[in-house]
Amino acid sequence: MRHLIESTDMSAQEVTDLIDLAIEIDANPQGYADRCKGKIMASLFYEPSTRTRLSFESAMLSLGGQVVGFASESSSSATKGESLADTIRVVSNYSDIAVIRHPKEGSALMASQFSLIPVINAGDGGHEHPTQTLTDLLTIYSVKGKLSELTIGFCGDLKFGRTVHSLIKALSRYADNRYVLVSPFELRPPDYIYTILRENKRKTVSDERLDDHMRDLDILYMTRVQRERFFNEEDYVRLKDSYILDTAKMRLAKPDMAVLHPLPRVNEIAPEVDKDPRAKYFEQVRYGKLIRMALIIKLLSAPVGRPIDAYDTQYR
Ligand code: CP
Repeated sequence: MRHLIESTDMSAQEVTDLIDLAIEIDANPQGYADRCKGKIMASLFYEPSTRTRLSFESAMLSLGGQVVGFASESSSSATKGESLADTIRVVSNYSDIAVIRHPKEGSALMASQFSLIPVINAGDGGHEHPTQTLTDLLTIYSVKGKLSELTIGFCGDLKFGRTVHSLIKALSRYADNRYVLVSPFELRPPDYIYTILRENKRKTVSDERLDDHMRDLDILYMTRVQRERFFNEEDYVRLKDSYILDTAKMRLAKPDMAVLHPLPRVNEIAPEVDKDPRAKYFEQVRYGKLIRMALIIKLLSAPVGRPIDAYDTQYR
């Protein structure tokens, strides 16, 4: 049984296969309209979401499957004190695959250890968001035709931005990518991200200024300052508008640079940038559904095994 908990759980070849399948689904959606007929996806969202939840649900429905679930912790029995471990054991009886978003780092991994069905991490706190990464890789491949030999700028909240952590990890497996990490000092990526870049011998620049690097970038990955992960509102207010991408900044960039953003955006990309052909963040949303369709097909095709009996080993 396969789960997707971290962005590197799939090999580079498996990612290539998923991208190929997503492109094939895009070209021939009718050919996949019954692919998951009779299958049920559990959509377990303990944290707010628009794109991830609705694209997963739309993906499953477009594959002929069905969806059960909840959109907030408050409408689940977690409010009565039920653990995630118990919830996933129960939900395994009602569905064939589960998608989980949860505010706690490590929650999806823990759920996978108790699950009878494949678990997909739809975001676990500030840790990872591997299906956003698959979305980002499909977008980069679609606009650049490759995933290597690119200079990628990450800008904004690189500390709490889980999409950044997952994407840097995934891209570090492709040859000759260079990284420009732009953030306020307090929002630099966690140390383990620098370790991954060092171990993979990736050229990396860290800076607090964006303008100086605009001309070098093939991809600019903008991110929102993650208000919900801050310990105090004052720090958030001080840092929230550290970077605002506007047309003046876009004039500094290459004519074929692509701007990505996992969304939602707040102030970090001015609406005036939306009409620039280099703004790819709404195309990115469309790729999110396609790659999630491909992922659901792949995980439901994997042989079903027994879960490790985590409950017995940890709590007996
Ligand atoms: N990109 C992303 O995870 O968006 P949502 O929080 O709306 O799912």
